[in-house]
Amino acid sequence: MRFPELTAEEAAEFIKNDFVVGIGGFSSVGTPKAVPTALAKKAEAEHAKGNQFRVGLITGGATGDPIDGALARAHAVKFRTPFQSHKDMRAAINSQEVQYFDLNLSHVAQDLRYGFLGHMDVCIIEASSVTDDGLVVPTSSVGISPTLCKSADKIIIELNAHHPEAIRGMHDIYEPANPPYRREIPVFTPADRVGTEAIKVDPAKVLGVVRTNLPDTIAAFTEPNPVTTKIGQNVAEFLIEELRRGIIPKEFLPLQSGVGNIANAVLGSLGECQDIPPFTMFTEVIQNSVIPLMESGRVSFASGSSLTLSDDMLGRVYDNLDFFKGKLMLRPQEITNHPELIRRMGIIAINTALEMDIFGNVNSTNVSGQKMMNGIGGSADFARNAFLSIFTCPSVAKGGVISAIVPMVTHTDSNEHSVKIVATEYGVADLRGKSPVQKAHEIIENCVHPDYKQLLWDYLKISEGKCHTPMSLAKAFAMHMALAETGDMRNAKF
Ligand code: COA
Repeated sequence: MRFPELTAEEAAEFIKNDFVVGIGGFSSVGTPKAVPTALAKKAEAEHAKGNQFRVGLITGGATGDPIDGALARAHAVKFRTPFQSHKDMRAAINSQEVQYFDLNLSHVAQDLRYGFLGHMDVCIIEASSVTDDGLVVPTSSVGISPTLCKSADKIIIELNAHHPEAIRGMHDIYEPANPPYRREIPVFTPADRVGTEAIKVDPAKVLGVVRTNLPDTIAAFTEPNPVTTKIGQNVAEFLIEELRRGIIPKEFLPLQSGVGNIANAVLGSLGECQDIPPFTMFTEVIQNSVIPLMESGRVSFASGSSLTLSDDMLGRVYDNLDFFKGKLMLRPQEITNHPELIRRMGIIAINTALEMDIFGNVNSTNVSGQKMMNGIGGSADFARNAFLSIFTCPSVAKGGVISAIVPMVTHTDSNEHSVKIVATEYGVADLRGKSPVQKAHEIIENCVHPDYKQLLWDYLKISEGKCHTPMSLAKAFAMHMALAETGDMRNAKF
């Protein structure tokens, strides 16, 4: 190998206090693991000597314990963007130890290229193979790795033997030019290939290669429960009806499905439903449920930025690469989430909300408007540009003391102009072509938990018939206040 071979500790030595560090990969998979862990240890050693040591962290999206966990516990992060989902990083963000700014995932790479995120000192990326002339094949995800390699002064590569070299050919690396030279992206169906199989890096920038053999760890999926199963069935029935009505064309349209257990359950229901023809996916994250659906022929092709699969499911893909290589494509998140492509292909987007209001505004990120959960991810990239934008959530949280549907969201990620359909386990609200008061009736009638229905009707009555959007300035957050003061939203009075 042309590049110096380093231990993780030697590689971490290149990273200095106050550096801005880019982390390749996406959605907790295909991310480097050994060097960030060594970096956390280095930070702890520097702190023990009384020295300052904190870095800025720019990733593609969520990372696992070796990055967000280890670096947060080492108090080694000065700022962080974008999506994260690790409990220790979340705690550091919510105590303001880490300055966090949330970004739409389609924007991260271009914001870097535009110079909006400042200077990047070093990036660390994971590879399944590297050639002497600087062709780097990623592993189970792409994220913003191509842009990191271009933007950073120096590059550290973790060469991870856990992924076979034979996955070369599954990636499609394409980076749009900056304005005013940007052209259309010639992707017309999820399977269209427009880029290269590998990231071309400048060999002069490569500090060295660290050999590893490490699996990724993703959060365990919980089995679908009656609530998530019912949400999945409700969405599937709604889509079948749209197909019958001819609103969705008979060939069906590519699907995007968000992260988490609800998203997995929705996809499971859609897959089981034989009234829906075999479909393609143009999504950000390819989750566990997609693989059996491919094996059974229900999903014919999936394009995404990551194979966010449990290690045994990833093994299933790698054991049958000849079959899966023609059915899976991994792209930069800038492409998977690109507004141009989402609108052109008519994606049906299904994402999960933390809370939504009776007018169809969605909060995906801030609990009670104050505490960061994970981040907006790609939800708004898809919601704003989709053929049909669907938001799902269980009608209540925390055993029923929180209604997911409230008079007014405490933070807005996707607003009423982007949200077309809302679904809970109780039913589906179709917001298309409806005024704010009509939307409120549709949502309260079809989606709200019985414990909260009368409360929300009472709230609506305060201003119904008096203004365009019947909201009450005095009472909009009364349910949140009741939760804060009594521990139960049901104690709100209107
Ligand atoms: N207030 C307070 N807490 C709430 C809540 C609310 N209104 N609604 C849900 N929660 C809590 C749940 O109780 C649960 O807490 P726990 O982990 O302590 O049990 C947690 O939030 C997660 O909720 P859950 O119902 O398990 O849903 P999920 O795992 O599907 O996550 C989001 C839901 C919204 C947090 C998640 O989908 C997300 O981060 N979305 C934003 C990014 C995105 O949409 N990406 C996909 C784009 S491709």
